[in-house]
Amino acid sequence: MTMLRNIFIADISITTSGLANADTIAVIGTGGVGSALGPHFAAAGHTVVYGSRTPGSAEVQSLISQTGNDATATTQAEAAVNADIILLAIPWAPAKAIVSELGSLDGKIIIDPINALAFDAEKTVGIAADPSAAELIQEWAPGAHVVKAFNTLTRAYMVDANAAGGPITIPLAGDDIAAKERVADLVTAIGLVPLDVGALSHARGVEAMGQLYVAQGYQGRTRFEYHLRPR
Ligand SMILES: NC(=O)c1ccc[n+]([C@@H]2O[C@H](COP(=O)([O-])OP(=O)(O)OC[C@H]3O[C@@H](n4cnc5c(N)ncnc54)[C@H](OP(=O)(O)O)[C@@H]3O)[C@@H](O)[C@H]2O)c1
Repeated sequence: MTMLRNIFIADISITTSGLANADTIAVIGTGGVGSALGPHFAAAGHTVVYGSRTPGSAEVQSLISQTGNDATATTQAEAAVNADIILLAIPWAPAKAIVSELGSLDGKIIIDPINALAFDAEKTVGIAADPSAAELIQEWAPGAHVVKAFNTLTRAYMVDANAAGGPITIPLAGDDIAAKERVADLVTAIGLVPLDVGALSHARGVEAMGQLYVAQGYQGRTRFEYHLRPR
């Protein structure tokens, strides 16, 4: 029998089935976000497979050692084959090409942390995905369950949520409730606070949160973290 538990603390509550089964998580991209989240996923008991353009490089081999729990690295496409969950820890510009090379993603959960931002000489920060990166990714992989997550905080607090000095909310937008529950478990395991904000189309709002978050620092104003107070 599945043990159910409430993991959320706001007016919209979601229920999760816990970590009864370890997932295989393909972390596509070994940069700032991939190298921050991969070790947490492994520490939570999941099998991490990094998908990299250079899986044999010293940097990626070092990341594998740091990750533990028998993590491995291979090509992006091979990493995706046996994965239950795919984290797209990649820039926006090559995202369509990368997703198209990952093979069938039917039934898999795709976590999209991407901020598709456009910076110009006047220091404005625009959004370069219409209607949203998450919805476009869903179009490119129609059989997958895309969940927008992790785009509204900096890498440093992905590495160490406690360093933020208080709770940080991670809004989750997606059309598949079960997929959001699985991602919520990952968020909780990292020490962050998941919040179901509804359908994948609400990724437009979540991506706008990312735009504000980045622009605040880029334009020299007081930086902040998102903590949505439950009521
Ligand atoms: N950094 C943050 O604080 C932060 C916070 C929230 C959201 N995000 C978003 O998360 C995504 C990843 O951010 P990041 O900081 O991890 O980026 P990054 O440090 O630039 O790393 C991106 C990784 O993507 C892989 N990649 C595959 N194809 C690529 C290509 N054609 N060009 C460049 N890289 C390619 C690379 O890994 P391999 O070399 O292993 O192939 C690279 O290390 C971005 O969309 C960003 O907007 C970042």
